[in-house]
Amino acid sequence: MEVGIDKLGFYTPQYYMDMADLAEARHEAPGKFLKGLGQSKMAVAPITQDPVTLACNAANNILTDEDRAAIDYVIVGSESGVDQSKAMAVYVHDLLTINPFARAIEIKEACYGATAGLQAAVDHVTRHPERKALVIAADIARYGLASSGEATQGAGSVAMLITANPRIATVNDDSVYFSGDIMDFWRPNYSDTAKVVGKYSTEKYLEFLDQVWSKYKERTELTLDDFEAICFHLPYTKMGLKGLRQLLPEVSETKANELLEHFENSREYNRQVGNIYTGSLYLSLLSLLEQDETLTSGDRIGMFSYGSGAVGEFFSLTLQANYKEALLPEIQQKLLTNRQSLSLSAYEEMFQETLPTDGSSQYLSEEPNVVYQVGGIEEHKRLYQKNN
Ligand code: CAA
Repeated sequence: MEVGIDKLGFYTPQYYMDMADLAEARHEAPGKFLKGLGQSKMAVAPITQDPVTLACNAANNILTDEDRAAIDYVIVGSESGVDQSKAMAVYVHDLLTINPFARAIEIKEACYGATAGLQAAVDHVTRHPERKALVIAADIARYGLASSGEATQGAGSVAMLITANPRIATVNDDSVYFSGDIMDFWRPNYSDTAKVVGKYSTEKYLEFLDQVWSKYKERTELTLDDFEAICFHLPYTKMGLKGLRQLLPEVSETKANELLEHFENSREYNRQVGNIYTGSLYLSLLSLLEQDETLTSGDRIGMFSYGSGAVGEFFSLTLQANYKEALLPEIQQKLLTNRQSLSLSAYEEMFQETLPTDGSSQYLSEEPNVVYQVGGIEEHKRLYQKNN
């Protein structure tokens, strides 16, 4: 039984901050953000978008009525959820009008949550091949204005439809995972921005990569030569490059150059969006599949997932015949090119805007060209709406 990713959808808000402008405002050399971090634009979410609406907008791009009827498991991976108790997946399930006889849950483990969701969905569909599962990674990455992590913020969502006989890629049964209690990045309940020990977090990322990759090779007897490309969790795209460089001494110069070329394609979308936490690895996969013209069916793609705190996992995908036909690159192109650049003051204002937390009501106006949006809040209940 082959189970894996049948469809991939993406959404990012309609606003961005240009990284050269942000560098200038923060008295940094533009090269630091553009080359040093590998980021050119940073998606900024307006008050009308939260992780629930980001998730719905990403999934709405890929689901047919038949999918909605066949899905019986909705999993949202996120670390920027809107409620401590209620799963975002319950809102998402309802807003997307999915079959009511479905399970809807949220998974949290920093940027790793969607990978746990993907593996749970694959297990579920393996047991019930006639059913489908929807896994969505949705996050708004917030470190704070003028903070050390500010240039690695972003917002967006990736939705994956998991089915038997998938059209894009099978998820192979070869996962190696590793957990350890460390404080590299976290967000206490009372804070709406993340705490981070920046340099330490990058060291831990690389250390976890080493742990899972070494064990993966031992268990599977595969080597780096068996992979056509490797996708990384990309909190900023240079982080994945550091990860890849750590592995490259294991292969010839020719193979190393090939892997580096594939990596450039795998970071193209992330470079323009920024960190979307749980979705970053899957946005990188989408970027690779849509931007790379040299991959073919049967190719093995490595996937390194890392969630601070921390859990790391390495697993692989196998590309399916005609996988390109299942992709929708024109949607991504439209989303990325139709965005509006923000001035520093507009970005700072948008960043600080919040809905009332004292139980009073606020209603937001309809956003043009946006399908799902936050409609406001009433008595501590967030309101969601679908625009025509
Ligand atoms: N031209 C080109 N490159 C330049 C430059 C210039 N003018 N000036 C600086 N650089 C380079 C630096 O040499 C450095 O490159 P290397 O890392 O290859 O040495 C890079 O730009 C960044 O410079 P700094 O290290 O001085 O940057 P910083 O002190 O501002 O911190 C950071 C960078 C630690 C990533 C910070 O942005 C941060 O804390 N971000 C949030 C945490 C994070 O993303 N951690 C990643 C691992 S944890 C994870 O993956 C989970 C998650 O999603 C959060």
